[in-house]
Amino acid sequence: MTTETTATYSTTKSEAAYLAAQEVIAGGVNSGARGPGAGWVPGPPVVAHGKGAELWDIDGNHYLDYLLALGPMIHGHAHPEITDAVTRAIHDIGTMFALPYELEAAAARKIVETVPSVDLVRFGNSGTEVVLHATRLARAFTGRDVVVRFEGQYHGWADQLEWSHHPDLAKAGPRLRPNALPGTPGIPEVIGQTLAVLPWNDRDAVEQLIEERGKEIAAVLTEPIMGNTGVIPPQPGYLEFLREITAANGIVLIFDEVITGFRVAPGGAQALYGVTPDLTTMAKALGGGFPVAAIGGKREIMDQVSDGAVLHAGTYNGNTVAIASTVASLNVLTRPGTHERLFELSNRLMKGIGGIFERAGIPVQVQGVGPMFQFWFSETPVVNYRDAAPHLNSPKYAALALELHRRGVMVHPSNIELWFVSTVHTREDIDTTLDAFEGAVKATIGQLR
Ligand SMILES: Cc1ncc(COP(=O)(O)O)c(C=O)c1O
Repeated sequence: MTTETTATYSTTKSEAAYLAAQEVIAGGVNSGARGPGAGWVPGPPVVAHGKGAELWDIDGNHYLDYLLALGPMIHGHAHPEITDAVTRAIHDIGTMFALPYELEAAAARKIVETVPSVDLVRFGNSGTEVVLHATRLARAFTGRDVVVRFEGQYHGWADQLEWSHHPDLAKAGPRLRPNALPGTPGIPEVIGQTLAVLPWNDRDAVEQLIEERGKEIAAVLTEPIMGNTGVIPPQPGYLEFLREITAANGIVLIFDEVITGFRVAPGGAQALYGVTPDLTTMAKALGGGFPVAAIGGKREIMDQVSDGAVLHAGTYNGNTVAIASTVASLNVLTRPGTHERLFELSNRLMKGIGGIFERAGIPVQVQGVGPMFQFWFSETPVVNYRDAAPHLNSPKYAALALELHRRGVMVHPSNIELWFVSTVHTREDIDTTLDAFEGAVKATIGQLR
């Protein structure tokens, strides 16, 4: 950790606790997005507790939380209904048995009833895991090996898919046919042969690849709304195009709805846009703050695991904490009016932020879909990774985020990550946030221009 920088997130106690943690936790954090490498310099604030839409750090600083643990806390922190459901499950049922119990089917039924593409479900524990299962199912179903993934998207940290997430443009190759680049040392080069990387929102690129290599392609894997390079919504008709071209070529279409699922509509992005994939992966909002994920999809594809022809396994799959949190989180999310409210609040925030920049004469693109959004210091809309690349990890954004922290607004310091709005934020919270935002823009105006 450098102590020379003047920018600072951690204050006295946080800094000491973070230093102490580094004696026993590698880098002092348990995921890369939480450390200085991701922008928390010299170290992250250390949390004391969270309640509803609010967070407190151990120095007593108070924040309105739009980080929301990078998405799972769609009902805020320690939501009473979800906390009760989970603690009741532990007391009344136990935690895990390596045997089925009745609540599992209730949770699965809730997903089947809510997500249009899903006939059958299997539960897992993290987004990374269920995306791996999805690609395995697609490869087994088609007898083909290649998975298409898009530049700038993220599908978990596993060797098979952590490729071309935020590649260096100097190495990324041609726009229409990017090189597949591993996202970290430690990934065998040879895995790149099982992937094809394409630019998103570009029909020609998909058509050309499928024309040349369609018979090798098992799956097209996509976030239906890009949510790991800020937010990049699909161009009108793009998801429909992906649906048609994959269906016509015997390719499995996988929507990775780990972020969008249950968030942009009860049935996720597929319900919002009316495009039905073959397989869907879900996590984050699914459990409202507890580790749970699910894969679901068409009966004929999912049935491959029904009799064990294709392996799906996991000691912790379907534990009672995961399942009880799923039932409770989905109960809240499917309550009438929930998404209307989420959209109303988030649109108010996005519009307010856009207005503040406009009044300050700073061109930005506020891009979002309901309760997930981000903004780019760009003159023109960002429609794919190559548009976003010059603006990634923007120092302007980092300066603004630090000022927001000083004014009690918790967001990630990097604009790769998103602003999330929860079901427990209020209109008053949004207006307080906009006041803080205006102050933060004024304080950093010299850096933003
Ligand atoms: C779209 C998408 N897929 C998969 C993952 C991986 O999920 P997890 O962190 O639960 O493994 C993420 C995580 O942010 C994600 O955004």
